[in-house]
Amino acid sequence: MKVGVIMGGVSSEREISLKSGRGILGSIDKNKYEVVEVILDSKQDIFEKAKGLDFALLALHGEFGEDGTVQAILEAMDIPYSGCGPLTSGLCMDKNMSKKILKEGNIPTAPWTTVKDLDKIDYDKIEEIGYPLFIKPNSGGSSVATFLIKDKSEIYDAVKEVLKYDKEAMIEKYIKGEEYTSFILNGEVFPTISIKTENEFFDYEAKYSQDGKGAKEEVVYLDKDLQEKVNEVSKKCWDAFNCRVYVRVDVIISEGVPYVLELNTLPGMTATSLIPQSAKARGIEYSELIDKIIEYSLA
Ligand code: DAL
Ligand code: MG
Repeated sequence: MKVGVIMGGVSSEREISLKSGRGILGSIDKNKYEVVEVILDSKQDIFEKAKGLDFALLALHGEFGEDGTVQAILEAMDIPYSGCGPLTSGLCMDKNMSKKILKEGNIPTAPWTTVKDLDKIDYDKIEEIGYPLFIKPNSGGSSVATFLIKDKSEIYDAVKEVLKYDKEAMIEKYIKGEEYTSFILNGEVFPTISIKTENEFFDYEAKYSQDGKGAKEEVVYLDKDLQEKVNEVSKKCWDAFNCRVYVRVDVIISEGVPYVLELNTLPGMTATSLIPQSAKARGIEYSELIDKIIEYSLA
């Protein structure tokens, strides 16, 4: 089977995608699959470079990759691919749409508003949400252009900056609590990972700094009640968004309530990324995890 590891792309997370792709290329079982590296440098590249593949293993992040567009093109080309379908991918990439679905499903999520026009910032609504709050691209990832705002005077400039990255800015209450992430594979919730950072929040630097100082990420076993809550909310997300194959659900627990931050349909996939760590805690090595992702995607 000819498997193309699709990486790169045109989003602000291109560099992270190249890391995810290289992580997969370094671990995928080359005796089982004929593996080809497919680096996208433009949107059109997908048409040329995916041609002839039996399977597209997606290591893309962000716009044109994680948002359902590439998935839809692969559907049209009749090439099976890894992970969620176009609709789920698109909804999970759009934080505003995601939060509407979470709310509809009675899944806790932080109060929010969005703004598309710098001249139409709803300051009253923002006061209602309260400080501190985050302003970030509505369809962003990896905390690129994400600002922690503590005062009204900072809002305008932050929205202005964010609108350079996205047509819509997400304005969301900062929930103070403990941050965790849940990996779900084929509907099964895997061991929870705790994320601790000395930075003000789990920002780009904390996520990707090479010295490992930015954040501490480790598998944890929570109190029975809390673990049940995290698993339950994660599973609810899986169902609400009609996920398939795998997803990573990021949560913050505050006063015993797990608030869902977002779902990541193509989460980071370097060997030290969160989901391979979670799989390992279940005894599933990285190359086996890739096998399972391919197997479930083809099922
Ligand atoms: N957006 C990054 C790659 C993640 O969710 O892991
Ligand atoms: Mg994300």
